[in-house]
Amino acid sequence: MTDPSAPDVAPDGVAARPQAGAGEPLVVLRDVNKHFGALHVLRDIDLTVRRGEVVVVIGPSGSGKSTLCRVINRLEPIDSGTITIDGAELPEEGRELARLRAEVGMVFQSFNLFAHKTILDNVMLGPVKAKGMRPRDAERRAKDLLDRVGVANQSAKRPAQLSGGQQQRVAIARALAMQPKVMLFDEPTSALDPEMINEVLDVMTDLAKDGMTMVVVTHEMGFARRAADRVVFMDEGRIVEEATPEEFFTNARSPRAQDFLSKLLTH
Ligand SMILES: Nc1ncnc2c1ncn2[C@@H]1O[C@H](COP(=O)(O)OP(=O)(O)OP(=O)(O)O)[C@@H](O)[C@H]1O
Ligand SMILES: [Mg+2]
Repeated sequence: MTDPSAPDVAPDGVAARPQAGAGEPLVVLRDVNKHFGALHVLRDIDLTVRRGEVVVVIGPSGSGKSTLCRVINRLEPIDSGTITIDGAELPEEGRELARLRAEVGMVFQSFNLFAHKTILDNVMLGPVKAKGMRPRDAERRAKDLLDRVGVANQSAKRPAQLSGGQQQRVAIARALAMQPKVMLFDEPTSALDPEMINEVLDVMTDLAKDGMTMVVVTHEMGFARRAADRVVFMDEGRIVEEATPEEFFTNARSPRAQDFLSKLLTH
């Protein structure tokens, strides 16, 4: 919905996402290159994610999608190029890196919740430990977030007592508790049983509608069509094509994207 001529109300009657401040660049990668040894995994990546935008990244296995997510908060260093978040360039290390990292929420395929802590503690811990928030305030926020992702009634349990879909929703609440400016999702539903995929996608769709800036690596093409403002297609470390979901799914330009889509449809 970055198109200025786009209507305020989507065709299905759902109000358009809030666009306050939309349009300014929030995450900007310029000419980013990264190798793992001799393997060139990110090649001349230029990508701008604007405030409020939802960018879905798709592409074949090994094309560099996870690495792209990981360099955005320097879980992986880059060889050349620059990455800025809300105008501030990511340094290689130190306090400033920790501060900028906290502005980026990450949700992975595996939930990585603290096994021995309650659900509520899992969501409270970051704000208390990393941001010095008062436990009472952190608890209130955690309860609100657990309610928002639909697991408020699970807050006293431990992660192993929840379903995979519930755990992933807790992982989303935990990331949101840090009040990130952007959320990165790396295949958040690919470890889930089919019946749990939608409950996680629904939470993500709601987040998108609320105006959260999101970068989502996913094979869920329904989600991409429904929630993405833009699809970025990667192959062999390059961004090969960027388009609106409508353009991409009906009229992909590059042969590699066409090939990728034809394989998806026949599986
Ligand atoms: N820590 C690492 N050390 C060495 N090579 C790596 C490392 N992490 C990833 N790679 C390689 O970099 C390339 C890109 O990997 P990446 O995980 O970013 O791909 P992907 O697009 O996320 O794939 P998938 O769809 O399978 O998750 C692959 O060839 C992978 O084997
Ligand atoms: Mg990956």
